Amino acid sequence: MGKCIGVLTAGGDSPGLNAAIRAIGKSAQSNYNMQVLGFRDGFRGLMENRTVHLEGEILSGILTLGGTILGTSRDKPHKMPVGSRVQDMTEVMIDNYHRHNLEAIICIGGGGTQKNAYRLTKAGVNVITLPKTIDNDVAVTDVTFGFDTALSIATDAIDRLHSTAHSHHRIIVVEIMGHNTGWLGLGAGLASGADVILIPEIPYDVDQVAEAIRRRRHRGKNFSIVAVSEGALSKKDTKQLAELKAKKLAAKDEKKTKKVAEELANFRSNRVGGTLRLSAELEALTGLESRVTILGHLQRGGTPTAADRILATRLGTACATAVAERQFGKMVAVRGESTELVDLADVVGQRKLVPLDHPWIQAAIATGACLGNEKLVG
Ligand code: F6P
Repeated sequence: MGKCIGVLTAGGDSPGLNAAIRAIGKSAQSNYNMQVLGFRDGFRGLMENRTVHLEGEILSGILTLGGTILGTSRDKPHKMPVGSRVQDMTEVMIDNYHRHNLEAIICIGGGGTQKNAYRLTKAGVNVITLPKTIDNDVAVTDVTFGFDTALSIATDAIDRLHSTAHSHHRIIVVEIMGHNTGWLGLGAGLASGADVILIPEIPYDVDQVAEAIRRRRHRGKNFSIVAVSEGALSKKDTKQLAELKAKKLAAKDEKKTKKVAEELANFRSNRVGGTLRLSAELEALTGLESRVTILGHLQRGGTPTAADRILATRLGTACATAVAERQFGKMVAVRGESTELVDLADVVGQRKLVPLDHPWIQAAIATGACLGNEKLVG
C-alpha cells in the first residue's frame, strides 16, 4: 500500500478550498499511489483525531462547491480551548500524525495557518502548506485562492449599489472585507469605479473625503460611492493605534500591560462601528444623505470563479508532487503561471500589504478616485 498524507483546512473559509482538496486527492492517488486522509475542522480535527478518507465519490462533484467539505476552525495548536482551559495540544496532534503513519500533513490556509503549520514543522512534523484567503495578504506568493471570487462578488455588489445611490442622490459607504490589508477593497473599488477608496495602508482624512464628494456635487454628481476596507483607519485613529502599540511594548509590569491590553481591546471594538461613524461624518460634512452596506461574509460564500478553481487545482497538484518529492517545511507559492516551493520560515510573521506605488493605486488616482490622503498618494 502507498504512503498516506493528511489534509486540513484552517482559518476563514475561502472559495476554491474544495477544488484544492479534490486536486490533492486525485493527483496524489493517481500519480503517486498515495492515500489521502482529511482532518475535520482544521487543527482541532487533528487534535481530536476526526478523519475522513478522501477518495472515490467524496472527491466527485466538489470542484464547484464553496466552503470546505472538511470544515474549518480558527483553533491554534498551541492555544486550543479544551473544556474550560486553553492548552498547548501540539503533542496530541503529533501523536495522531504518527498514529496514521502520515508521510506529511498539508495545511491549507491564510497567514494564521501558515504560522501554525510552521509551529508543527518546528515540532518535527512534515508539513506543506497552500496559500488561501480572500484577503490576498499571504507573503511571498503572487496571489492566494479565494481572492478572485471575493473580488468578483464585492465588485458586483458595488455595481448594484451604484444605481440606487444615483437614484436617491445619496452617498453609499460600502464596507469590504480584507482584514488589515486593502487588496479586496482597492480591487473592488477600482473595478467598480468607486469615487472614494479607503484602505488600511493609507490612513484617511475625513475632510479630504468630504471635499472630494462636494467637488463631485459641484460637477452635478450628487451621489458618491465610498468603498472602505474593514481595516481602514482615519489618520487620527492610526496615530492612536500606534501610540497604544508603543505603550504596550513599553509596559513594564503586569498591571500596566493589562491596562494597555484593555485600551487596545476597546480601540478594536470601537473600530467595528467605524464605517457607521464614517457615514455619519460624511453626511454631516456634505449635507448628502448617506447609507451603509456591509458586505461581510457574502464575499466568502458560494461558487468559486473559474480563475480560483484553476489556481486551487494548480496548487493542489503541485502540492501532491511536493509531497512525493519530500519537500517539507514549504509553502506552494504562486509565481505567474508557475508555482514555486518557498520556505515556510520566509512566509510567517509577514503580511503582504498593498505597496503605495502599486499599479492599482496609480490607476485609481489616474481615474479620479479619492484615496483619502493626498500627502501619501496623489
Ligand atoms: O481572513 C478572511 C476574513 O474573511 C477577513 O477578511 C475577515 O476580517 C475575517 O476573515 C472574518 O472572520 P470571521 O469569519 O471569523 O468573522
